[in-house]
Amino acid sequence: MTELLEPRAIGRDLVRRDGVAKVRGTATYAYETPVERPAYAHPVQATIARGRVTAMDTAAAEALAGVLAVLTVSNAERLASTEDAELAVLQSDEVGFRGQLIGVVVAETSELARQAADLVRVSYDERPHDSVLSVDRDDLYAPEQVNAGYETDTAEGDVAAAVAAAEVTLEQTYSTAMYHNNPLEPHAATALWDPSGDGFLTLWDSTQGVHPDRSAVCEVLGLAEEQVRVVCPYVGGGFGSKGTPHANVVLTAMAARALPGRPVKLALTRQQMFTLAGYRTPTIQRVQLAADRTGRLSAIAIDVVEQTSRIKEFAEQTGVPARMMYASPNRRSTHRLAALDVPVPSWMRAPGECPGMFGPEVAMDELAGTLGVDPIELRVRNEPEVDPETGKPWSSRHLVECLREGAERFGWADRPGPRHRDGDWLVGTGVASSVYPTMRQATSTATIRYEDGRYVAEIGAADLGTGTWTTLPQIAADALDVPVEDVEVRIGDTRYPVASVAGGSSGLNTWGSAVVVAAREFRGKFGPRPEDGDETSGAVDQAAQDEDHASYAFGAQFVAVRVHADTGELRVPRLLGVFAAGRIVNPRTARSQFVGGMTMGLSMALHENSVWDPRVGQVANHDLAEYHVTVNADVGDVQAHWLDEHDPYVNAMGTKGIGEIGIVGTAAAVVNAVHRATGVRVRHLPVTLDKLLTGLP
Ligand code: MOS
Repeated sequence: MTELLEPRAIGRDLVRRDGVAKVRGTATYAYETPVERPAYAHPVQATIARGRVTAMDTAAAEALAGVLAVLTVSNAERLASTEDAELAVLQSDEVGFRGQLIGVVVAETSELARQAADLVRVSYDERPHDSVLSVDRDDLYAPEQVNAGYETDTAEGDVAAAVAAAEVTLEQTYSTAMYHNNPLEPHAATALWDPSGDGFLTLWDSTQGVHPDRSAVCEVLGLAEEQVRVVCPYVGGGFGSKGTPHANVVLTAMAARALPGRPVKLALTRQQMFTLAGYRTPTIQRVQLAADRTGRLSAIAIDVVEQTSRIKEFAEQTGVPARMMYASPNRRSTHRLAALDVPVPSWMRAPGECPGMFGPEVAMDELAGTLGVDPIELRVRNEPEVDPETGKPWSSRHLVECLREGAERFGWADRPGPRHRDGDWLVGTGVASSVYPTMRQATSTATIRYEDGRYVAEIGAADLGTGTWTTLPQIAADALDVPVEDVEVRIGDTRYPVASVAGGSSGLNTWGSAVVVAAREFRGKFGPRPEDGDETSGAVDQAAQDEDHASYAFGAQFVAVRVHADTGELRVPRLLGVFAAGRIVNPRTARSQFVGGMTMGLSMALHENSVWDPRVGQVANHDLAEYHVTVNADVGDVQAHWLDEHDPYVNAMGTKGIGEIGIVGTAAAVVNAVHRATGVRVRHLPVTLDKLLTGLP
């Protein structure tokens, strides 16, 4: 058990400290960092999906006045490590996917760089490519583990026997689409090599973690950490796509090394982001449930097929949430991958949990329908006493309370019956559960110093729009027992102590823990009246990490839909979520996280869909004109609520992490509402007109 901080600043609705700078446009992002005489880089990309580059004619590009350098797979520097094939930029003439980087042009202006990149003539030895995901492939394989280190397959009891013996069973296949992160700020960096001595690289990179970013870049470029500084005070969104560096960062650093002393800027175009910034793998999920007449589950199974790139494995942990969500004596989960000639998948908000709570939460709704049991009641009846996966007690689990409070606030009891009609519109409501593990990273250090009558906390943490600039001072203030106005926090620079990535909703859990250790140390050492220059540092205490409990945040998602009976037009007037995610540090920034996640879940349900064209091996709708991300006009009333949850096991703040849980379960709730309204059960996302029209009454 941890002694929880007495919340004084924690829990207050404080405005974003970075808000004014962002609104006024004075907050600098990576690409717009003011530097002397910048040069601009533009990538050259492969136009085949598989094969080999046999020649690159750069003469026309180099002849353009203002072109400073042209790097290709033949003349680029050799990198120190090529272990990560995604980051081994320009190291080989092999092409693993269409759009792979094969060169870069650096010029005096970005327009010139782009024009010159178009003038590079490339010859290929093209080979047939294979990029179609299907459960029927004979080359599906089981990875050694799936992401976050989870086991690939798990089994307990005998699912087949339980299914054979059960009074009621369900077996269905569900699928989620390919999705691309589209943060407002594209992936971008400015890089500057100091021309003197051994060289020193400054990288202004849009990243979810300056320290992990630096480590990765150092490894690839063969540099010591002291030779690189990464700076990133502001990020225009990441959602995971900036959680690990992609090839663009390495390319920018290489381009700058070709021009020592001149800063080089490179921002991916929106279209390039559909190739070079990762994506969420499409998933195909076979779900089996077995239950008795009252709805008590005797078996839960999920068998997942998804894709990775042939050049680098990325194994989304889609089957993981079904392992712990509900009580059942017989359980199975498996993951199989197809390694295709496609870009490398990567992180997208709630990897694993987000796709993995789609199939099972729709299946629960289908089972509720078969049994004639209310879908909330069905979930309540299968509430596990302890974590079914590990047998550990929950540090806290308030899923049932979220469902009940959500039902109350949403008006679930009065919900319209199946295919209820309101004029020309069919209306319906749906529900689904939500979950996200509570994570804390092993490494992070904070320094606290008394400076000019203020407390300054320094830590190389990130704020990608999540609120760190605002919430970390709240934690420091309570740990120091001083007013929050007396605390300044400095983040987003490797000059500050090492900090973990803003990923896995672990940011504040981790950095806050380090800040609390440093602050308690500071108070112990200097008492209530410190002097200028007094300083302590503290690291996250991994030894004190609770290992005896299963820690998760839970939530309940409620959705109301309206479907036009003639046209199938689908509107979502209401989303309502209730979450139990530990203590909420700042209701303003937290609400923004929850509402943002839920909106992204709506987007996943109805709009987002990277349409893969297997003939050429690329996303056909690779821009924001064709890839629709839910916008304000698509969103109705979105409400996020939370329970006052007290969890003394997670960390000193009592926080569980809130960046990702908002997206989990939303799409299932939408599908469940659409079924209630129309009678059409959509099992393959997104829910589009063509899937509704033939089934409308
Ligand atoms: Mo999040 S997808 O773990 O950055």
